Amino acid sequence: MKIAVFVSGNGSNLQALIEASGRGELGDGAVISMVVCDKPGAFALERAGKAGIRTFVAEPAGEETREEYDRKILAVLREEKIGLVVLAGFMRILSEGFVKEYGGRMINIHPSLLPAFRGTGGIKEAFDYGVKVTGVTVHFVENELDAGPVIMQEPVRVEETDTMESLEEKIHRQEHRMYPEAVRLFVEGRIRLEGRKVEIIK
Ligand code: GAR
Repeated sequence: MKIAVFVSGNGSNLQALIEASGRGELGDGAVISMVVCDKPGAFALERAGKAGIRTFVAEPAGEETREEYDRKILAVLREEKIGLVVLAGFMRILSEGFVKEYGGRMINIHPSLLPAFRGTGGIKEAFDYGVKVTGVTVHFVENELDAGPVIMQEPVRVEETDTMESLEEKIHRQEHRMYPEAVRLFVEGRIRLEGRKVEIIK
């Protein structure tokens, strides 16, 4: 199965996926075929380059609509016959048309226990709120932001000694364990979606 990873920034989750792929841990036949990025200077692009993965950089142009932008990306995904879209810190909302085409074949990782702390500040908002437990969610992508069916969720405890930085580190470590595992389950056809409920087939 051909996988496209979408990124906007650092790309540490991309790196975890690349390394898992190198160890053969993304499932039989899984290959990260391309990295799609909306930010030309993103460090994630360097990581992709080092791993020899094709990159497609699509910087949104001012006059372009969201649908036009997404159609450009969809054309490349179709041409590459991408079977799974993995959003890994991709900080753009995708249009309805995009979600329709890749519905059930597109996953996202979010640094909180959804539906708490949606949006772009998942770690900081949880830290500032003073929660004792936060965590990581992997979910299917639907039209509403950070609201698709949950595939996996793992808690991360917030200790009194934690700082924003140490919490961030703990969350990222958890993400890097979970995301390759979620991709493998998808590749092995072990994720069954029934309405909002996800069953993981043993
Ligand atoms: C990750 O923590 C991911 O959960 C978050 O962006 C970070 C990207 O880090 N995504 C969201 O907040 C989506 N709403 P990375 O570029 O190092 O993988």
